[in-house]
Amino acid sequence: MAEQKAPRATTNRSTTPRSDSFKDYISSQWADRDEVMPAAREEASFAAARRERLSALHRGRRLVVPAGRAKVRSNDCDYPFRAHSAFAHLTGWGSDTVPGSVLVLEPVGDGHEATLYFRASAGRDSDEFYADPEIGEFWTGPRPSLAQVGADLGLATRGLAELDGVVTSSDASTLVLHEADPELAARVEAVVAAAADAEGLQEAVETGQDDPATASSSVAVDVLARDASELRLVKDAWEVAQMRRAVTVTGRGFSDVIADFDDIVAHPRGERLVEGTFNRRARADGNTVGYDTIAAAGDHACVLHWTRNDGPVADGDLILIDAGIELDSLYTADITRTLPVSGRFTDVQRLVYEAVLEAADAAFAIVRPGIAFREIHAAAMQVIAERTAEWGFLPVSAAESLEPDHQYHRRYMVHGTSHHLGMDVHDCAAARRDLYLDGVLEPGMVFTIEPGLYFQPDDLTVPEEFRGIGVRIEDDIVVTADGAENLSVGIPRTVAEVEAWIARP
Ligand code: GLY
Ligand code: MN
Ligand code: MN
Repeated sequence: MAEQKAPRATTNRSTTPRSDSFKDYISSQWADRDEVMPAAREEASFAAARRERLSALHRGRRLVVPAGRAKVRSNDCDYPFRAHSAFAHLTGWGSDTVPGSVLVLEPVGDGHEATLYFRASAGRDSDEFYADPEIGEFWTGPRPSLAQVGADLGLATRGLAELDGVVTSSDASTLVLHEADPELAARVEAVVAAAADAEGLQEAVETGQDDPATASSSVAVDVLARDASELRLVKDAWEVAQMRRAVTVTGRGFSDVIADFDDIVAHPRGERLVEGTFNRRARADGNTVGYDTIAAAGDHACVLHWTRNDGPVADGDLILIDAGIELDSLYTADITRTLPVSGRFTDVQRLVYEAVLEAADAAFAIVRPGIAFREIHAAAMQVIAERTAEWGFLPVSAAESLEPDHQYHRRYMVHGTSHHLGMDVHDCAAARRDLYLDGVLEPGMVFTIEPGLYFQPDDLTVPEEFRGIGVRIEDDIVVTADGAENLSVGIPRTVAEVEAWIARP
């Protein structure tokens, strides 16, 4: 049952010397290291409070929350590793998480005891440090010790090898967050299913009951994913501060792009330069981008998730840039600005832009604790319907279009207006509809407001001068005690602000 590492696909060309004499030689004559103990990081106490909340939902049950492991891209190349957001949220470990780590909450008395299992630094008495290209210190750098991570995160720590004992001793009440590490989850679930069988709970598995009191493995997995998502619906003070920082550095990335407009316009794949310039800022000031950057010039803006980014950026174009920087803590911004590359909107571009801005402002105006999340979208749609009706694009009046069976204005904006935002760009995705779309706003919730208008280049319902125009304005909002704050209001968004931002000497 020991955790196995699959052999890499390139062992057929390994040149690592295998002789004992080489091993003895390379394992010796290394200076002693001082083990520096870090102070607990600021988020450690917040993560402890989050674990308490999860613990209160599942008294008496063992909870297993894996970070996940690196995913092979091809042969011995991996995709960049990124810990599952639930794991990062509950541990405070972000971009520096050691792949394969697992948080276990063990039921004890009236609560849980948390232990973090991870692959700690290997000594020079094993050959890992020089002979293992996947995780060896000479290949990927040193890993922290159990004591260092324990001090850093304020958690009890154990070596990953000890996780076997957790797996084999699971019982029918054990919950594992399946999607974070399906391989580990399958091992736990096999033990859980056997235990459930022994305890006569098999019927619950087969009928898919989702009552945590009686459900077991396959259903219980979903329960933990859901609860971890719902725990993040309201952000704590540390998380809101991270969101502020993510928005600030994202704004810098947008300014960098504008500063590069001359080079961008001159290059046949200017959209790629937009992506590259933004990515430079993301890597410099954060961990990476929170999602693939959308750099959509001209009619590419009508493709909602245009990430190919291989087109030119012409002087008279609008360019829609949807981009966000993820910090080392894994919190990400999600901002869209639609910019006239020349520095000045044409009349028709301005008309469309002002309508989208009006929709965004109307949505923002109603945000306060106590309203339903879905009302934000309704407020934006009211404006979108009114403007497109006024311009003569709809077959009926705005009021009729807004009726549930009509919705003709949605031809020009098929996406939603808002989604929760945090560690994941589409955060809290496993939360129940009752708490998300039909949920009620609370202080500390963070989400986007991102209406748009997209007139496809071949849309015969709109005059020719509108065709190929796509505008989205996306801001990141936090609900306050009596209203809301637009975290990204400092990134130019009105026509005058945007034109002044771009104005080049
Ligand atoms: N960037 C993806 C979105 O706005 O939802
Ligand atoms: Mn968004
Ligand atoms: Mn976006």
